Amino acid sequence: MSRDSIGGLPARVGQTVTLYGWITAVRSSGKIAFLQLRDGSGFVQGVVVRGEVPDEVFNLSTSLSQESSLKVTGVVRQDPRAPSGVELGVAGLELISRTEDYPITPKEHGVDFLFERRHLHLRHRSPWATLRVRDSLIRAIHNFFYERDFIRFDPPMFMPTVVEGTTDLFKVDLFGTDEVYLSQSGQLYAEAGAMAHGKVYTFSPVFRAEKSKTRKHLLEFWMMEPEVAYLDHEGNMQLQEELLTYLVAHILDERSAELEMLGQDPSKLEPAASEPYPRLTYDEALELLGGLDLGLAWGEDFGAPHETALGNLFDRPVIIEAWPTRTKAFYMEPFEGDPTRVKANDVIAPEGYGEIVGGSQRIHDLELLKQRITEHNLPTEPFAWYLDLRRYGSVPHSGFGLGIERTLAWLTGEHHLRGTIPFPRTLTRLYP
Ligand code: 4AD
Ligand code: MG
Repeated sequence: MSRDSIGGLPARVGQTVTLYGWITAVRSSGKIAFLQLRDGSGFVQGVVVRGEVPDEVFNLSTSLSQESSLKVTGVVRQDPRAPSGVELGVAGLELISRTEDYPITPKEHGVDFLFERRHLHLRHRSPWATLRVRDSLIRAIHNFFYERDFIRFDPPMFMPTVVEGTTDLFKVDLFGTDEVYLSQSGQLYAEAGAMAHGKVYTFSPVFRAEKSKTRKHLLEFWMMEPEVAYLDHEGNMQLQEELLTYLVAHILDERSAELEMLGQDPSKLEPAASEPYPRLTYDEALELLGGLDLGLAWGEDFGAPHETALGNLFDRPVIIEAWPTRTKAFYMEPFEGDPTRVKANDVIAPEGYGEIVGGSQRIHDLELLKQRITEHNLPTEPFAWYLDLRRYGSVPHSGFGLGIERTLAWLTGEHHLRGTIPFPRTLTRLYP
């Protein structure tokens, strides 16, 4: 069947096209019917005029119910009032499947109602637009690394070791014999990859049993983690800046229309498309927080109010570096002559979206790494392979992890992370 797409209609003004799609709403008077159509590639209004089409076509158009599927033919016309600049003068309609009692009506529905029906909710404008931005973001990530000769490196999901601390591990019972964990991060494996290929990145789901019901935590989310041999802390922060500016510029270029559909002003993101990003040390950030009446004792980690306050000081993401060793994971390289601070950084997005990136230079000294594993009360045996990376040709190396959903929430202005992934998994949502 010959088939056109709504997304392609602006280039087809004056031509007759055939669309296969669904109806999202109908409004009609005795003489004219306005059909809101979608086909996956976009949304367009079809206009049916009594007398200009056979009677049965007009009668069908006024009887269509929301989410009925249909074939539509018509002529593309310019319409300056339409967001896409075009509408369709309908000539023919063919019903494919009639829908009864579609549950998501044009009235306001609560969040739980919509997410209980996420499989249908996905068809509506806001999730549709958000997930198109998601697709572009993921593609841009792959392009960025491909252009820089990184190798994509896929880590396992069943892991014998902890990566990011023991409090949020999902344990999996493997036939009652071995205990393994669902991956919290592919980093340790990416380190092995970096020693084989020099520059790698992972792209995978990760799992964290976070008991917090906040808007920034999912139980299952996607992370992208580059790891580079012979890269130091400074180079690591530069790579993060380069990546983030590239991603923002790409989204502005490709998905501004979707951002506008979501009520997100693209110009707000423009500053984040250029370097440099502001940089603060943890100590400097602490001082700023003190001035904002959000003082913390040195060595304490920032909570959501602190991240929000810091993020709001700037028009683009801010990099916070040189963290107290005790706030961070076991594998991070301390500063020369100061074991109390590690060569680690976070990137915090504006407007309360919080930490979107966490990274560090890794310890490459065997004895120090062993000591840190012991200090963190981790069993050494499952880390034997990881320690081998320091036994055989150890080199300074660094990497970071970017949370896909956190980054998307910031880009799209979606308040809660659940809206940035097709089927979110949270403490209160495991269906559908
Ligand atoms: O800061 P995190 O814990 O860093 C790591 O896992 C390192 N191994 C990364 C590395 O150096 N290779 O997590 C990285 C990012 C955070 O900055 C945040 O964006 C996101 O993952 N993240 C979450 N996103 C959604 N839900 C959660 N529960 C998240 N926890 C972390
Ligand atoms: Mg972190």
